[in-house]
Formats: sequence, C-alpha cells, structure tokens
Amino acid sequence: MPMVALRGMQIGIPSPFLPSGQTAMREASLGWWLIAIGVAVVVVVSGLVLVGAMRRRQESAEHMRAAGGGVRWIVVGGIILPTIILLVAFGMTLKALQPAARAAAPPISIEITGHRWWWEIRYQGKDAHAVVLTANEIHIPIGQEIPLTLKSGDVIHSFWVPQLGGKIDLIPGQPNTMWLEADRPGLYRGQCAEFCGMEHARMALLVVAETPGDFATWFAHQQEAATVPDEVAVRGHDLVVGGPCALCHLIRGTSAGGRQGPDLTHLAGRRTLAAGMVPNDRAWLTAWIADPQAIKPGALMPALGLKSQDLVAVVQYLQSLK
Ligand code: CUA
Repeated sequence: MPMVALRGMQIGIPSPFLPSGQTAMREASLGWWLIAIGVAVVVVVSGLVLVGAMRRRQESAEHMRAAGGGVRWIVVGGIILPTIILLVAFGMTLKALQPAARAAAPPISIEITGHRWWWEIRYQGKDAHAVVLTANEIHIPIGQEIPLTLKSGDVIHSFWVPQLGGKIDLIPGQPNTMWLEADRPGLYRGQCAEFCGMEHARMALLVVAETPGDFATWFAHQQEAATVPDEVAVRGHDLVVGGPCALCHLIRGTSAGGRQGPDLTHLAGRRTLAAGMVPNDRAWLTAWIADPQAIKPGALMPALGLKSQDLVAVVQYLQSLK
C-alpha cells in the first residue's frame, strides 16, 4: 500500500517501537530493555574474548592452572550469570504481559477471520441485533480495550498491528483472543505475519482509531442496509446483484448474499481495496474489477470479462455504497 494519507489521515509507520496504545507501549519498553541487556552481554563477552586473545599463550596456560583450570569461570560466567540474566528477562516479560485495567463491559467485541488473503471483520454490539460485517478495515474507539476473537477460514494467519501491540495467530478450529487498544486517533497499518501462501505479503489491514463519538457514528451507519441505487447506479446494481458478483459477496438489503468474499454493503466507505493493496478510488476499483489477478495474482476473485460500459456501471454502483 502506498504510504500516503488516506482520506486526510496519515498512516503511522508500522513499527513496534512507535507504540500508540498502552499494551504496545509496555511491549516497546520491554523490547528496548531486552536489547540493552543483549548488547551489554555481547560487549562483555567480546571484551573477554579480546583479552584472552591478546594474552600470550604461555602466560595464559599458567594463569589457567593457577586459577584451577578455569572451572570458576565456567560455573560463574557460563551457568550462574546467564541464569540470573534470563530470570530477570523472564520476570520483565511476565510483568509487561500483565493486562491493563479492562472495562468490565466493552461496548463492542470484534471477531476477525483470516482468509487467503483478506480479513473478515464481524462486530457484535451490546444489542444482539447490532451486528456489522466488513473487511480489512477495523474501526475502534480510542482509550478502550476492545476484545478480539481471531479465527481462520483456511490456513494459519497471524494478526499484527505493530503500533498497537503484539501479534497473535489465527488457527483453523482454535479461536484465539486478544485486546486491541489505541490511545490517539489515527490510521495504523496491520499485516498478516504468518506465511499463508502466495499473497501473504499482500494481506494487510488498517485499524482506524477514532474518538468514541466518531466511532458511534460509523458503527450506527455500518448497521444500515446498502444505499438504494439512484437512476445513475441502477444499471450497475442490476449487474452486480443479478450477476456473478452476488454469488460471492454480501450486500445487505439486496438479494446479493454470497459469503465467499468481503461484505460490500458499505464498500465505498473503506479506504483500501484487496486487503490494503491499493487505495479505494474510482481508478483502482475499475482496475481491480477488470482484472483482479493483475493486482493480486492468486486471489479468488476472477476477471469477469465485463464489457466496458458494464464495468463503468458496476463501478458506479459500488461507489454509491457509502
Ligand atoms: Cu495470511 Cu499470511
């Protein structure tokens, strides 16, 4: 994905050392400490090796005999010190992994299902009917830890948004849980972090962290059915809903009920296409539908060979799905 501002928001550099959430900050600080300890060990050991190499062999052998054959060095430097250092690092890791205070009743929970090669996102609000389906773009309110359940629809994937915390695998038949939290509004890039086939590197996602008010507006809108097409979009609507698109894609409020591919009910509201591959604008949407394999070889979506007027109409309709 080009590192540009998407709809006025800049994407953060996806580095675990630029944390934007409480968990991520604890993990980043742990990372720096472990690096510092590792560097100190390397410096001390290299120093000892240098000293040993510079001593003359004869002198060194006599010294060794006098010191009891170096057994003390082996016991202290090879067993006791490393044990202490590893125990300290283990204790620091356990402390960093302690959960922060969590809201007793989070406003929403999110279920993420990994597919080759995109992310299915399902929100469950407090009410049973407050369900939202979307793909590849996760909106969260800032300042709250949102519970995630992670599943896989095919092979093992791994969910990782470096600025918001550690990664966790999505394993077929074994739901995992995690929490996602951001301290300030922004766009955070995520990435599949487990090799899952040809397009693994092109399995990205975006986390959109918003103020609770903005999030509530987004969430309410996402629960609505798709926009009814106006005169301009009606031809495209008929082609999409009555054609092959509907076999794989769900558009809530229409008869398109496929579940193979991403939900398209509010497609035009998303910032990227094809799991973070390209910006979601008219040109890229047209290029994607005309020949998905040119953008993401191996993706399940085939080129449909639409006539150019039909392609224009389909794009017109999809862009109306705000
Ligand atoms: Cu999904 Cu790598």
